[in-house]
Amino acid sequence: MHYLCDMLAVAEIIEQKLFSRDNLVTLLRAEGADGLLLLKKAGELKLQTIGNKVYFRGLIELSNVCEKDCLYCGIRRSNKNIERYNLTDEEVLEAAQFASLEQYGSIVIQSGEVTSERFAARIERLISQIKSASGNKLGITLSLGEQRKDVYKRWFEAGAHRYLLRIESSNPELYRQLHPEDGHHRYEQRLDALNLIRKTGYQIGTGVMIGTPMQTVQDLASDLLFFKDFDIDMVGMGPFIEHDDTPFRVPADDALSLADRFNLSLKMVAILRLMMPDINIAATTALQAIDPLGREKAVKAGANIIMPNITPGRYRKNYLLYNNKPCTGEEPEQCSGCMDARLALTDSEIGYGEWGDSLHFKKRENENSSFARIVNDALQGVGNE
Ligand code: 5AD
Ligand code: FES
Repeated sequence: MHYLCDMLAVAEIIEQKLFSRDNLVTLLRAEGADGLLLLKKAGELKLQTIGNKVYFRGLIELSNVCEKDCLYCGIRRSNKNIERYNLTDEEVLEAAQFASLEQYGSIVIQSGEVTSERFAARIERLISQIKSASGNKLGITLSLGEQRKDVYKRWFEAGAHRYLLRIESSNPELYRQLHPEDGHHRYEQRLDALNLIRKTGYQIGTGVMIGTPMQTVQDLASDLLFFKDFDIDMVGMGPFIEHDDTPFRVPADDALSLADRFNLSLKMVAILRLMMPDINIAATTALQAIDPLGREKAVKAGANIIMPNITPGRYRKNYLLYNNKPCTGEEPEQCSGCMDARLALTDSEIGYGEWGDSLHFKKRENENSSFARIVNDALQGVGNE
């Protein structure tokens, strides 16, 4: 009885700044009018804190060659049903130029995970070339998996300044269930990688899939708390969608419907916006795979980043992470999905030509530099005495 009295209603919880695990579970379970209230509140808070700008990041899917074998992913090493590709350097540079011309402000270079020196050197060179070709104007985010410490550093020094690496699940046990036990997919290794990336100086982004086999609502609450504790700058998270050529091809008996995964993903976006009002949150493509207006709905619920695919059209059918991935038959110039997104985002202003860095990161940088100044001043004072 006492417990019941302690339980807050959704309308009360969303007015808070700090959220207990129980509160998060209540929000994740919110349905009907309560669910709508949550999405509305998050949208309003976004407008009040970071405004109504949405930033575009042109997504270049550089290669589907992958050393990893994640059980859920369509480009996993063991999938023999796809043609492996590598964009040429010219194609990457052309795609970057397209992003510049379209005033996207930034690109994301994403690829299957490759850890060879040849790959590291190639990316380093491409980053430098894109930076100089764009007169340093194009921001570069990397999404290239777990790498060695020196490789993160080389890429950072070449000019990339944000890195996305999803934790996939913050529950080590669930992480283990989603990945093969082959010595190459360790939760601790993923955490170490995130720490190294942050230390190198990148703005750090992570994320999870929502509605994976064996995941509970408690796990999702833990993921949200993980993002907060890790003090991330950006997040990309979206619904898990089965892929026919993976071990998770068939939904489990107790699997959530795609519609439920979609709704849960929107709630995750909204709750995270309430918890971390000044970070960058992506409206991910997987949302669009379930609902054509999925990304725009996420923007209304608190997201502020959209990643239009600018990979040359003929490669796209081979970068299918999951079934029904949108925009696979289109060239960047005609991509109807992107055109629709621009139209549907009329409530938002698009930050053309801007990097759109995470405000959260900027604030932390300022705090760190003023702290360093105070320490410096104090030390100088000591020296002068
Ligand atoms: N459904 C949804 N997202 C997926 N990803 C990989 N496979 C799937 C899938 N079947 C996501 C992972 C990875 C990102 C590049 O794509 O979260 O980090
Ligand atoms: Fe995906 Fe355009 S390429 S929306």
